[in-house]
Amino acid sequence: MPWTDDNLMSLQSHVLVEERHHPGATGDFTWILSAISLATKTIGNKVRRARIEDVIGELSEHNVQGEQQQKLDVISNEIIKSCLGSRANIGALVSEEEETPTVLRSHDDGGRYAVLFDPLDGSSNLDVSVGVGTIFSVVRLGDGVKGTPENMILTPESKQVAAGYVLYGSSTVFVLTTGQGVDMFVLDHSIGAFVLVKRDLMIPTSQKIYSINEAYVDRFPAGYRSYLEWAHEDGYSSRYIGSMVADIHRTLLKGGVFIYPPTDDRPEGKLRYLYEAMPMSMIIEQAGGRSIAGNQGRLLDIKPTSLHERIPVVMGSTDEVDHVERFLS
Ligand code: AHG
Ligand code: MN
Ligand code: MN
Repeated sequence: MPWTDDNLMSLQSHVLVEERHHPGATGDFTWILSAISLATKTIGNKVRRARIEDVIGELSEHNVQGEQQQKLDVISNEIIKSCLGSRANIGALVSEEEETPTVLRSHDDGGRYAVLFDPLDGSSNLDVSVGVGTIFSVVRLGDGVKGTPENMILTPESKQVAAGYVLYGSSTVFVLTTGQGVDMFVLDHSIGAFVLVKRDLMIPTSQKIYSINEAYVDRFPAGYRSYLEWAHEDGYSSRYIGSMVADIHRTLLKGGVFIYPPTDDRPEGKLRYLYEAMPMSMIIEQAGGRSIAGNQGRLLDIKPTSLHERIPVVMGSTDEVDHVERFLS
């Protein structure tokens, strides 16, 4: 019986149904996603209570990105690790907040997957109550791949099999793809469950909205500047929240294009490949959109060579990405 609007479907039951699409799936996904569900409900609770528990504000430490860590970045990182650590099919975890992967078990001991995550995205927006989120990617490790966790994750034999984000906004929204389209859930606090609200979400093919931090325009390569001049003349509007999860969620639902270009001080842009650009690209493509790494072509065709590498990002509605691409070539 396919899901219809009057069926109540939780994230858990939805993923169990999805498992049937994956021949040979052994409940692995459900097990990993249930841990992510628990972790993000817990993080969402912390985010909502941040002011009350006074965990807003910055730690003295800096993370591997050289960025000032917010207290909640670290707390969120620990919450995710404590929820995922118990899953016997996870070999390694990669976090934006940690230089090296957390190795849980070898491939021979059942470590079939790696989970890559940005525990708290947009955290600089935290103390002004603007939407922040968690981004994750589930990678199935190549069978029989040996070597350090880093090259087991980076080897082309390892494949991203699921991606998602949770936006802690006016509602807590969980957006997920396991390669069969994009589904959206909202946390019903009264029952503590993510409830399915939209199946097979499709991004509009065009929308005159661009999302970019125009403050840096003088540092963008010429192609991006020419695109912006064209867009200004063509009546586009600008929407930029400064949290990738919030900007991508709006782009997914309303259409448009999200751009984080290279700048002269950051020639690869700011966003990280493995746990920001790669999962968001899978979601956007599964929703019928496009994601390119500036003038380097399809983002997911680019193979990363290090865990925290950055990459330029242009993703969103197909027509809108086409418009940007025309100015970059
Ligand atoms: P994070 O908080 O995980 O470090 O990510 C912040 C990122 C991303 O969320 C957002 O799109 C981008 O930083 C905004 O950067 P600018 O402030 O340079 O526009
Ligand atoms: Mn981020
Ligand atoms: Mn982050």
